[in-house]
Amino acid sequence: MLEEQRNKIDAIDKEIVRLFEERMQVVGEVAQFKQKHQLPIFDATREKAVYQKVTSYLKDNSLKEALEDVYREFMRVSKEYQKTLLSRSDWEKSTDIKRNEMMDRPIIQQNVLDYLRTKQRRFSGELARIQQEANTKRVPIIPHETALFLDFLLSKIKPKHILEIGTAVGFSALLMAQHLQENGTLQTIDRFDVMIAKAKEHFQQSGRTNITLLEGDAEHILPTLPFSYYDVIFMDSAKAKYYTFLPQCISLLKKGGLLIVDDVFQAGTIFNEEHTIPKRTRKIHRELNKFMALINQHPNLITTTLPLGDGIVIIEKRDELVQIDNME
Ligand SMILES: C[S@@+](CC[C@H](N)C(=O)[O-])C[C@H]1O[C@@H](n2cnc3c(N)ncnc32)[C@H](O)[C@@H]1O
Repeated sequence: MLEEQRNKIDAIDKEIVRLFEERMQVVGEVAQFKQKHQLPIFDATREKAVYQKVTSYLKDNSLKEALEDVYREFMRVSKEYQKTLLSRSDWEKSTDIKRNEMMDRPIIQQNVLDYLRTKQRRFSGELARIQQEANTKRVPIIPHETALFLDFLLSKIKPKHILEIGTAVGFSALLMAQHLQENGTLQTIDRFDVMIAKAKEHFQQSGRTNITLLEGDAEHILPTLPFSYYDVIFMDSAKAKYYTFLPQCISLLKKGGLLIVDDVFQAGTIFNEEHTIPKRTRKIHRELNKFMALINQHPNLITTTLPLGDGIVIIEKRDELVQIDNME
C-alpha cells in the first residue's frame, strides 16, 4: 500500500515538473512569436489550462493560494496586453484574435494535427505564397488540412458556380476557383476594407477573371443573389450568423448543391454548458448550437461533419425546395 502511494506521489511530482516544463515551452513560444512579429501577444488560454492542471494536483493550500495570486496577476497583465493589441494598426487588427485562439486549440490530438499540417502535400506558386504570408501575419484563413480537403473535393465536383461568404485575403477563393468548369464563376463576399484591398490585389496578380468580389455585409448581399444557382457555397464568415444565413444559403443552392461551413466547434467549446462560456462568445455558442441542431435533424438536408481545422460541416440540398423555419 505504502509503495503504491509512493509511486503515486512520484508520478504526481513528475507530472508537475512536466507541466512546468510545458509552461516554460509555451512562454518561450509566445516570446519567440512576439519577437518575430514585434507583437505584444499573450496566450492566456493555454496558460490557464496549464495553471488549472497544476492546481488540480496541489494538495497544499498555501501553495495553491500563492498560485492563484500569480494567476490573478497574470490575467491582469494579460488584459493590459489585450488593450495594447486592440490599438494596433488596421492590418494587425484584421487578424481576428478570437479565431486565432481557436486555431491554437486543436480539436484533435496534437500529433495528428502536426501530421495533417506539416507532412501532407504543400501548395505551390501564388497559393503557397498567400498561405504563408497569411499564416505569418495570423490572418484567419482556412488551415492547411481544410484547404487540402476543399482542393480534393472541388476537383471531383468541378462546380460551375461557387459562392463564398468570407473572403479575407482571397486564399480559399483562389484555391476553389482552380476547379471551376469552363465559363464558371466564383463570387466572394467580404465587408472589411483591409481584407478587400488585399484580396483584390491577390485576384489581380493571379490573372483570374472569373472571380468577383462583392463588397459589403453578407446580410445585405445574400438576398440579392440568384435563387437555385450555385453548386457550392462556402460559408466562412462570422460564426454568430451561420444560423441566420442558413435559409438564404440553401435557397441559393441548386438541388444537389453543397453548403460547406467552416469552424463549427469553437475548439470543442460548443458542447459545454452555456453558463461556462465567457459572455463575449456566448452568442456564437448559442447560434452555433442552434445551427448544428437544425442541420442534423432537417429531413431534406444531408449533413456530414468532419474534425478538420475547427470542424467543418458539409450539407447537401436534396430537394429543389427546402423549407427552413428558423426565422425569428
Ligand atoms: C475566416 S475569414 C475568411 C477566410 C477565407 N475564407 C480563407 O480561408 O481564405 C472571415 C472573413 O469573413 C468576413 N466576414 C465576417 N462576417 C461577415 C459578414 N457578415 N459579411 C461579410 N463578410 C464577413 C471577415 O471580414 C473576414 O475577412
